[in-house]
Amino acid sequence: MARVAYVDGRYSDLPGAVVSVEDRGLQFADSVYEVIALVAGRLVDLDQHLARLVRSRRGLGLPAPMTDAGLRVVLREVVRRNRLRDGLLYLQVTRGQAPRNHAFPAEPRASLMVTLRSWTPFPSSLASGVAVVSCNDLRWQRCDLKTTGLLPNVLAKQRAQEAGAFECWMVKGGVVTEGASSNAWIVRDGSVHTHPLSHDVLGGITREVLLELAAANDIEILEEPFHPTDVRSAEEAFLTSTSSFVVPVISIDGNEIGDGIPGPVTRRLRELYRDHVYGPTG
Ligand code: PDD
Repeated sequence: MARVAYVDGRYSDLPGAVVSVEDRGLQFADSVYEVIALVAGRLVDLDQHLARLVRSRRGLGLPAPMTDAGLRVVLREVVRRNRLRDGLLYLQVTRGQAPRNHAFPAEPRASLMVTLRSWTPFPSSLASGVAVVSCNDLRWQRCDLKTTGLLPNVLAKQRAQEAGAFECWMVKGGVVTEGASSNAWIVRDGSVHTHPLSHDVLGGITREVLLELAAANDIEILEEPFHPTDVRSAEEAFLTSTSSFVVPVISIDGNEIGDGIPGPVTRRLRELYRDHVYGPTG
């Protein structure tokens, strides 16, 4: 079935969904985005994603393309028109169209584009764990804002792909910040560690929800930085993101982590997250 996209007030088939060459998203990456999972017809953690969209927009002084209620209507309509039960919804807000000039246009009108693609939640291919590699974190100093300026992330992911790995964990000042498109976690001495919220990492929604689920289930998580050597000597490691939820990491740069298979803490957190997405009986 043809995919339907939304661009600035119009729903159309994907090939007809186009933006101007003078859109500031294209020219300056002057834009923010969200990726939201659609599972069994429901947009997972929609409120948290829309709250982060507002934070990212405000961080760049970017106006809202419409009201929150209007945005929810558009997202629902994109889901409805695509007739999908499981998918990944992508939405981008740019500072709109204007003759190319670095400074903001006098009266910017934000652009909104939304797409949805088919996707399988919790694919069995990821349950047995993935490899990661590490690389220098080349990004700017506001990685907490979800902007489309993703070239360092693109290069990191390409490096992972060329090494036959699933993800690249980025290292800044001797500390693992996060993956190219996911948050990074290890289990050490029985407790879980992930980088604290700061300008150096994206506050992942999966991360946020997993922290709540862990707290409710008496699993200790320490929001503390860790080093690449800590990963190599960790008992377990995993990554989180909207597009992969909770995925065991079983090696880094070719070195096996723990027993080289998904560990008990990771498996438990993955189950808790699955219950959160589907409901305990799902
Ligand atoms: N990526 N860190 C980075 C750099 C990310 O790009 C992402 C998400 C995350 C995890 O955030 P969340 O749990 O909210 O998805 C962490 C999305 C999925 C993407 O760019 O496709």
